[in-house]
Amino acid sequence: MSRTEFIATGFHVPERVVTNDDLARMMDTSDEWIVQRSGIKTRHWVSEGETGVTLARQAALQALAKAGMKPGELDCIVYCTCTPDHFEPGNGVFLQRELGVRDIPALDVRNQCSGFIYGLSVADAWIKSGQYRRVLLVGAEVHSRGLDKTTRGRDTAVLFGDGAGAVILGPTDEDSRGILSTHLYADGRHAEKLWVDAPGLAHDPYISEELLAQGKHRAVMEGKEVFKYASVLMPQSVATALKANGLTPADITLLVPHQANLRIIEMVQKSVGLRDDQVYANIEKYGNTTAASIPIALHEALCEGRLKRGDVLVLTAFGSGFTWASAAVRW
Ligand code: UT7
Repeated sequence: MSRTEFIATGFHVPERVVTNDDLARMMDTSDEWIVQRSGIKTRHWVSEGETGVTLARQAALQALAKAGMKPGELDCIVYCTCTPDHFEPGNGVFLQRELGVRDIPALDVRNQCSGFIYGLSVADAWIKSGQYRRVLLVGAEVHSRGLDKTTRGRDTAVLFGDGAGAVILGPTDEDSRGILSTHLYADGRHAEKLWVDAPGLAHDPYISEELLAQGKHRAVMEGKEVFKYASVLMPQSVATALKANGLTPADITLLVPHQANLRIIEMVQKSVGLRDDQVYANIEKYGNTTAASIPIALHEALCEGRLKRGDVLVLTAFGSGFTWASAAVRW
């Protein structure tokens, strides 16, 4: 059976850069607090006319160009986001339309910060089974329009950013490389520890002035709880990935973790026992872009020459749900 390889990557973030000082003019916060607690210095926010799909389209076109492929050569689109442009249909079909292709399936994955690895796992299974050969996997988010940019929302508003990352996946017959494993997890007991309650059809009506006044359409997070579980479950998922493939921490060339908080990344690094050069972080520039953070970081790591053929790449993510996941790849 063939394995799945990464053929090309791409990314796109909006032009508008928002600094911590910009945020301090909107709410009671400071550059010092944000950098100290999260490591974030800037994030990108969309401007009028930009949406998750327009960001995803740019990232996808960049990945396609790098792969030397036309959109018409794709067999399938997997679109991971927790910030869709519309309630329905999902962003996958809008991206398909924007790319000018028809008839190929467009799957939407709603697994928040773990979305990209969940999507990767599905794409990997399809490719290995021979169902689809060329899969476009996208993680794209527009958080800025959903944030409460007042002091009430400061614990989340300072963390999240907008952006998109895309990868093209396909089969390789060389069994020495490609995706070695994916491991996916969820624990719904923690669903309300990071969630957006409304609009939602658990409410009747599903959106109302009252829900809006209560701020139910904003992301609400028990930050300390999320931090606590992420710091334990991300390293655990890395350990599982290593064990499944007979690898040790020393074998990891690069760990690309979901970029939620630099302090969490540092705890994962310490817990797994990795050197600085084995861990990639770019959260300083983009903040937390949930499903987009891993493909954006992977793209930048590749541009910096951090991975070469034969290297071991490990991905890990944790987020709302709780959901968490890992993947091991022989590059
Ligand atoms: O992808 C997964 C998504 N989320 C995460 O991974 C987030 C995980 N959690 C975290 O990263 C951290 O919990 C935060 C960065 C969100 C918060 O850090 P913390 O050290 O847990 O702070 P805290 O929530 O305990 O708040 C400490 C203080 C509070 O003030 P008092 O009660 O001590 O007076 C907050 O009101 O900091 C205050 N605070 C702020 N101050 C300035 C909260 N947000 C801000 C802010 N600026 N933006």
